[in-house]
Amino acid sequence: MARASFDFSGTTTVVTGGASGIGFTCADLIVRCGGNVIISASRNPEKTNQALTKLRAVNPGVKAQAFPCEVGSEKSVEQFFRAIKESGERIDYVINSAGVSPNTDFFEQTQEEWDAVQNTNATGAFLVTKHAALCMKDNPINGDFRGRILLITSTNGINSQDPVSAHYDSSKAAGNMLVRTAAEFLSEFQVCVNALAPGWIETALNDTLPPDVKEKETAKIWMRRWAKPEEMAQCAAHILSMPYYMGQVLMADGGYR
Ligand SMILES: NC(=O)c1ccc[n+]([C@@H]2O[C@H](COP(=O)([O-])OP(=O)(O)OC[C@H]3O[C@@H](n4cnc5c(N)ncnc54)[C@H](OP(=O)(O)O)[C@@H]3O)[C@@H](O)[C@H]2O)c1
Repeated sequence: MARASFDFSGTTTVVTGGASGIGFTCADLIVRCGGNVIISASRNPEKTNQALTKLRAVNPGVKAQAFPCEVGSEKSVEQFFRAIKESGERIDYVINSAGVSPNTDFFEQTQEEWDAVQNTNATGAFLVTKHAALCMKDNPINGDFRGRILLITSTNGINSQDPVSAHYDSSKAAGNMLVRTAAEFLSEFQVCVNALAPGWIETALNDTLPPDVKEKETAKIWMRRWAKPEEMAQCAAHILSMPYYMGQVLMADGGYR
């Protein structure tokens, strides 16, 4: 795949969920484009080590680090950003890619599962945005902004899809709306917030998707294929690099009805 070129030199990007899938490919593209990255550690330490080894091999001239972060816990998110600040890094960009997507028949979705999905996807988006912005607002101004935040939400938060993802779709709708509110409020502090809403992407997140749902969904994509995570990384780098996107939810779904 041809790689679009972006310039992240001299900057640091924090990527939650950066040890796998879309988050990892975002971190990978940023280090290739000269930027330092800090990923949230996976709950599987081996996965974190593998991600860091790959990122450092791609560009030994930049820093790739990991700190623990449970995005659904304010205490953990606060500690994550405090640890980054104490390490001396200025946070220029944040990509919030951490997310979960269990697929469960509608009548089988329990309150416990519903709450867990909201906690990671919706509450996590809020907590990461809030604590990232609290760090960024003290940065020196660079062009129009002191920092830029990108939430990875989903087209499911705009067009609901299958009842197996009722909880997920609702959590992503919350993220899409958060972008509008947060961007307007945080503009006063020169912090920019946008969302990338991907369609169907080839990552482990969809491993539990029932085959019949997968087939039905693929038929609805005008490009008749799912995207590679690297294509989402290019969209993310584009949104972070273009100054006039503000409070937007940009869909990348290959055309879908
Ligand atoms: N794949 C798609 O088709 C698609 C489409 C639209 C939107 N998205 C969104 O894109 C984002 C990335 O998904 P992906 O496809 O790259 O999936 P993935 O490979 O499963 O990555 C998800 C990442 O989120 C992390 N994570 C999950 N819960 C967390 C928590 N509570 N705190 C901190 N980290 C947590 C996981 O860490 P662990 O290693 O610890 O599990 C993992 O690194 C998600 O927000 C997802 O909703 C994906």
